[in-house]
Amino acid sequence: MKLFIDTANVDEIRRAADMGILSGVTTNPSLVAKEGRDFVQVLKEIVEIVDGPISAEVVSLDAEGMVKEALPLSEIHPNIVIKIPMTAEGLKAVHQLAKRGIRTNVTLIFSANQALLAARAGASFVSPFIGRLDDISMDGVELIADIAQIFDIHGIETEIIAASIRHPMHVTAAAKAGAHIATCPFSVLDQMIKHPLTDRGIERFLADWNKMSQK
Ligand code: E4P
Repeated sequence: MKLFIDTANVDEIRRAADMGILSGVTTNPSLVAKEGRDFVQVLKEIVEIVDGPISAEVVSLDAEGMVKEALPLSEIHPNIVIKIPMTAEGLKAVHQLAKRGIRTNVTLIFSANQALLAARAGASFVSPFIGRLDDISMDGVELIADIAQIFDIHGIETEIIAASIRHPMHVTAAAKAGAHIATCPFSVLDQMIKHPLTDRGIERFLADWNKMSQK
């Protein structure tokens, strides 16, 4: 399973990219608004840092508006993927963009049927939201497993991005359930690095080393 970072913060993207762990980036309107910066400028900076799919979301609700927003975004760089909400208008936009060779990531997926529809419309990626399902006492990881099974049985090549990841256990569970990608906030990537036994091990090695060098 590949790892993407779910943020529009360029410093976080750079810090994660420097560790060599990133295969792509996802953004959404909330994450972009949080940064308070020009969206196009942010995307231009991101494509220079990460060589992989960079999702940029449209905010129009009708297919025509979505396609109109998507075209200039897709011209920023070949790695830009247009993120489209899972609606009937969204599916129309995905279909039109696929015919033009523009890759899409269908977002706000909460059922296996939504994922199947998005894939059939021509989406390159689908983003089931694990955390938001868990929030309403539904099993987000089970949804990933269902979609992975359906795509596998029917030879569907659309990639599954496990989204709305809240903690490291979501990442492990998504990988076991068959997600191709997990898109994680920087804080989760950071938590994944750490283990108390690693810290204790380093302390002990250094203490032993220092004892030896004092002899
Ligand atoms: C996915 O691409 C979304 O940006 C994201 O994962 C949403 O996560 P949230 O539920 O934490 O807002």
